[in-house]
Amino acid sequence: MRVHALLAALWAASARAHFFRFDSISNASAYYFYYVYCNIWEGECQPNQDDASQQVPSRALWPRFPQDYVRVLADWYCSVGQCCDSGDCRIANNVTGLARELRQKLHGQHLAQAVVLKAVQGFIENPESDKPLTLSFHGWSGTGKNFVARMVADSLYRDGVKSECVRLFIAPFHFPHLRLLDVYKGQLREAIRDMVLRCPQTLFIFDEAEKLHPGLIDAIKPYMNHYDNVDGVSYRRAIFLFLSNIGGAAINEVALDFWHSGQNREDIGMEDLEHRLRAEASDAPGGFAQSELLSGHLVDFFVPFLPLEYRHVKLCARDAYAARGLEPTEATLDEVAKTMLYVPKEEKLFSAQGCKSIPHRINFFMP
Ligand SMILES: *[C@@H]1O[C@H](CO)[C@@H](O)[C@H](O)[C@H]1NC(C)=O
Ligand SMILES: *[C@@H]1O[C@H](CO)[C@@H](O)[C@H](O)[C@H]1NC(C)=O
Repeated sequence: MRVHALLAALWAASARAHFFRFDSISNASAYYFYYVYCNIWEGECQPNQDDASQQVPSRALWPRFPQDYVRVLADWYCSVGQCCDSGDCRIANNVTGLARELRQKLHGQHLAQAVVLKAVQGFIENPESDKPLTLSFHGWSGTGKNFVARMVADSLYRDGVKSECVRLFIAPFHFPHLRLLDVYKGQLREAIRDMVLRCPQTLFIFDEAEKLHPGLIDAIKPYMNHYDNVDGVSYRRAIFLFLSNIGGAAINEVALDFWHSGQNREDIGMEDLEHRLRAEASDAPGGFAQSELLSGHLVDFFVPFLPLEYRHVKLCARDAYAARGLEPTEATLDEVAKTMLYVPKEEKLFSAQGCKSIPHRINFFMP
């Protein structure tokens, strides 16, 4: 019975895909542009065109699409039977899920946990906000910046980072050559625009943001500003995440100071960090730090990631085992945690690599 139901569902899905000649969401939005272009703008369309995706109007036309038609996309998308509560199936906006993931899987980061949740929740629940959300994650590698960015993507979008509403830029990979800066600027502006037109609530993640060339951020600054429209497109629902190690040293110093003075790590407050973070961020060399992003107060929230201790590494190891359905002993977890290097030399307090590579390391210590 169940197999039959499954087959029927598959058949229905493939028939639908065939009928509309799309088999991916990208193609669905291509079809949408065709649909809007022909039916609402009464553009020049040839009926019964075989390949709808060829009918996507040229980019020059896009700026003239008012935002309302983007809503039409959601409605139309629903009308072909792929409807969801949010109206747009690509968007999940599961804030409860995000809260739970942050609480259960992020270790040793009470500040990041609170700030990210507050920022994202406030943004999602307040669709009339007049500015995109811009968060800047700071901290050493392995402390969870990418992990949290992935959590945000997974809870806000049905397909997580693979969603067509999520775009990841890795600075040294996407923008390697300084001499091509002007080309990158154009490409980046165009990419942001295209994405937001296809999906107003797009999540842009800039990893290794400390390596962004000067000028590149300034080129996209207008999109992060609170002015409503740029060339007739509204970026108000977009989310920008910048991940960098800028300020990592300042964060570590504060954490070490707290430890030396016998205070609880959990008592470190934003007020202990934000000022030093801003100071170090604006002093640090590099494009991201020097860009107007920081001086222009475009970042809504600085999110500090504290250096991880031995006990946090053990928790990461426990999660990694659990992900494979294993329940290791304390002794096994200790063995894994001991493979990490701890700094500074004297205190040996913080894992130099955070929880990085823990999922690989556990291979050597199977319970
Ligand atoms: C759109 O669909 C066509 C065939 O229907 C396929 O060849 C193409 O790869 C699809 N495009 C995307 C972006 O998935
Ligand atoms: C939200 O996320 C949680 C945890 O990831 C999951 O259990 C729950 O089913 C999700 N809710 C919806 C409506 O998708």
